[in-house]
Amino acid sequence: MKRGLFITFEGLDGTGKSTQLRRAVQYLRKCGYRVRVTREPGGTRTGERIRDILLAANTGKLAPLAELALLYAARAQLLAEVVRPALARGEVVVSDRYNTASFAFQGYGRQLGTTTVRAFDRVICGKIQPDLTIVLDLEPERALARALGRDTRRRSRHDRFEQQSLAFHQRVRAGYIALARRAPGRIKLVRADQSIPELQIRIRRLIDGLLRTQKAAGSRR
Ligand code: TYD
Repeated sequence: MKRGLFITFEGLDGTGKSTQLRRAVQYLRKCGYRVRVTREPGGTRTGERIRDILLAANTGKLAPLAELALLYAARAQLLAEVVRPALARGEVVVSDRYNTASFAFQGYGRQLGTTTVRAFDRVICGKIQPDLTIVLDLEPERALARALGRDTRRRSRHDRFEQQSLAFHQRVRAGYIALARRAPGRIKLVRADQSIPELQIRIRRLIDGLLRTQKAAGSRR
């Protein structure tokens, strides 16, 4: 039986997602919550190996359905090892990406369609859906420029996703916007071109809103 809370951060690379995630985790811990932080693809030993296949620039042509299946294989492992046990212990799980990324990147970006992604999602995630998904939204031109600048500084090679065309990232962004419209209660779009402290305040408000509804639900039980 699910008891904890599940918060996910989403958005294109270069939107400042990971910085905001770290700050949100600090905030939740300061409020006294036990927090389990994770990331996708990856988060487990098996998942990190799958991540290497997914991100390898030299993987060549990975069929979109193979990519989707690998992402869900890593997710199944993460759910079994990390997410389900932590939620069962009543912890707050915060993940740097989760299933909404598959809807946006594979459903819209790779054009597999949301029906196909949902078929995997029903089987693998089932009821373990995020309580709150924060999508950092930015024009792909700007997000990619930031992501590439960061990689050059770190002298890392650009991964398969960062090498995708602008059109691909435009579809992903449109996907996130469409998904947020369909599930406005759970998926919250936040403009990523605000200052780091401004963004932090907005995200805190969203988290506070979730914590309040949880407390209200708890007191009714
Ligand atoms: P990312 O968290 O961006 O890794 P890093 O921060 O090290 O660059 O994730 C890697 C890529 O995986 C990212 O470009 C988005 C992609 N991705 C999908 O296409 N589908 C998914 O379901 C997930 C979780 C990620």
